[in-house]
Amino acid sequence: MDLKKIFENNQSWIQRKLQHDPAYFEKLSEGQQPGILYIGCSDSRVSAEELMGLAPGEVFVHRNIANMVPNTDLNVMSVINYAVRYLKVQHVVVCGHYYCGGVKAAMQQADLGLLNPWLRNIRDVYRLHHEELNTIEDEEKKYKRLVELNVQEQCVNVIKTAVIQKAFKERSVKVHGWVFDIRTGKLIDLEIDFDKILHQIMEIYRIS
Ligand code: CO
Repeated sequence: MDLKKIFENNQSWIQRKLQHDPAYFEKLSEGQQPGILYIGCSDSRVSAEELMGLAPGEVFVHRNIANMVPNTDLNVMSVINYAVRYLKVQHVVVCGHYYCGGVKAAMQQADLGLLNPWLRNIRDVYRLHHEELNTIEDEEKKYKRLVELNVQEQCVNVIKTAVIQKAFKERSVKVHGWVFDIRTGKLIDLEIDFDKILHQIMEIYRIS
C-alpha cells in the first residue's frame, strides 16, 4: 500500500469538506455529541462510518476482534462508560458481521497463542447456546448463527454494566444487536427481544 496516497487523499478530502462548508473543521473542533456508540469488529471490510453513511462527529466507535464486550476488558469498559455517562449516547450498538474470522477461529480446534483467552469468550457463547447450535447441520448456517448469538451475548454484557443499568433508570437509552452481511452489504437489525432476555438475566445481574 502506498502511504503517500493516504496523505494525498486527506488533502482532497479537506478540499471537498471546505468547499461544502468553509467552517467545517472549525465546527468539528468545538466538540462532539454523537448519538450512537458503535461496538464492532476490527475487520478491514467492516468500516463503521461508511457502512452506516455517517459523518465525523455522529458515532463513537470501538472496534476489536469479533466485536467483544468482555467484562474484564478495561478498554471496552472505558469506552462504554465514557459514551454512556459523559457523551450520553441514546443508542449502544453491538455490530457483528457474517464471515467473521474471530468467530470462525473460535469454532476450530487450534492453539492461537495470545488470542486464546480472547476467543474463549466466543467459545463460552457456543457453550451457552450449544443446544440450538448443535441442531444446525449446515456448517455455514451454524457459523452465521454463532455470529448472531455472539452479538446477542455481547449486548447482554453491555447490559450487565452498572453504567448502562443506571442510565436505563435515568433516561432513554437502548441497546441494539446488528449484523453486517459482507456478501450483500446489508446491515441487519437482529431485533433481539431484550425485554425477554432482560427478564431472565436481570434477576442475576442487577447491580443498580
Ligand atoms: Co470479524
